[in-house]
Amino acid sequence: MARKLPLVAKPAAERTIAVLDIGTSKVAALIAIAGADGEPRVIGVGQKPCAGLKRGLVTDFEKTEAAIRGAMDQAERAAGVQIEFVHASISAGNLRSSVVSSEIDIAGAGITAADMDSLRAAGRARIDPGGGTVVHAQPALYALDGQAGVEDPVGFHADRLGMDIHVVTVDTPPLKNLDRAIKTAHLGLKGLVASPLAASLAVLEREERELGVALIEIGAGVTTIAVHSMGVLVGVAAIPMGAQDITNDIAAAFACRRAVAERLKALEGAAIAVNKDNHEAVEIPPMTDDGLAEPMRVPRAQIIGVIRHRLDLIFHHVAIGLDTLGFTGPQARQLVLTGGGAELRSLPDFVAGALGRNVRIGRPRGLTGLPPAQGGPAFATLAGLALYAAADVPDIWYHAPVAKAAPGGGRLAQMIEKLKGSL
Ligand SMILES: Nc1ncnc2c1ncn2[C@@H]1O[C@H](COP(=O)(O)OP(=O)(O)OP(=O)(O)O)[C@@H](O)[C@H]1O
Ligand SMILES: [Mg+2]
Repeated sequence: MARKLPLVAKPAAERTIAVLDIGTSKVAALIAIAGADGEPRVIGVGQKPCAGLKRGLVTDFEKTEAAIRGAMDQAERAAGVQIEFVHASISAGNLRSSVVSSEIDIAGAGITAADMDSLRAAGRARIDPGGGTVVHAQPALYALDGQAGVEDPVGFHADRLGMDIHVVTVDTPPLKNLDRAIKTAHLGLKGLVASPLAASLAVLEREERELGVALIEIGAGVTTIAVHSMGVLVGVAAIPMGAQDITNDIAAAFACRRAVAERLKALEGAAIAVNKDNHEAVEIPPMTDDGLAEPMRVPRAQIIGVIRHRLDLIFHHVAIGLDTLGFTGPQARQLVLTGGGAELRSLPDFVAGALGRNVRIGRPRGLTGLPPAQGGPAFATLAGLALYAAADVPDIWYHAPVAKAAPGGGRLAQMIEKLKGSL
């Protein structure tokens, strides 16, 4: 069976890390101390509602900047530190992934570190951003003479050494807009992390990743997918639809305010109706508050019917996404739902039925001192960003194999330079 690279490997020195999850419904910030041992320790969090984005895309700089500032201010005050650079998430901008393969001749010799550098350089040269910006290029699997399955090929003998690289790309303009919003809030972008990759780090078990698992992160405006096979991330996708669409559908169906619809969704909503939902009526205040219009009374099942309609649509696209990413067969049995939308009552049962898989809800873990208020699935990306920032994630695009030859510039400096170059 193929071996896998760990998703992350911990670096040694203790340092402060700061991350921002800029979502369609809220901006969340987190500051932590990443140490030599153990889990990153959270020292401050902050959160502000944000109406500056649509489907993960910045559409209003002022609102986005204000929410970023507010959330980071809160986190900074709690932590007692001032932050200059952040890692931030990206889920919009046509997030997509591909696998790039490369191979070099070894001629039967023992593989050396220099061969590994040549292989990475060869792989890197084959990556084509296709007019977009590369967010990640992670070595997935190494192969000796066409046989995939070595975690660290150094020392092995082979005629040919091959490597698969998982490349995640986004459109460049949305990235520039995100960068501008962060800069206007007087912060620098240290690194970008695809939201489904971050959420995967925070909620998936190692054994799940080895057996095959797909993460489905249902945000307010975007639903993202991350497929893991044989321990490595093999594909990501984004669907521009999310839990906010359910709210809007309820508001439209019952002519009520979105704030009312949001409350109805969370308090009365479900993915599956049970018998009593046909008999119990829910009162819905009208849109206008002039005292003339009567509140509407509808059976709860009717609200659930509206929710179901949207869920059918979202999970129709999720099923297509899973198929496209090759999540099929006996190693494609486990789904993990996260993101704020995963809080919807009876959603796991609905998804298990709709997609015929085992389903569980994923909540963030792996951080010490994460406050209970940030313990729900809506904070999976935030926690995962911190785990990513705290770790030394292998990346061929940003951690170029020429690192040894770059005077004065460490991996991070190269990453920042590369990011600047693409923004
Ligand atoms: N109990 C609940 N039932 C249904 N939906 C819920 C519930 N609780 C929260 N949500 C929804 O979760 C969404 C927020 O999720 P999340 O915080 O993950 O999104 P986001 O990060 O702001 O957006 P995105 O990632 O799409 O840009 C909101 O649309 C909210 O209505
Ligand atoms: Mg989100």
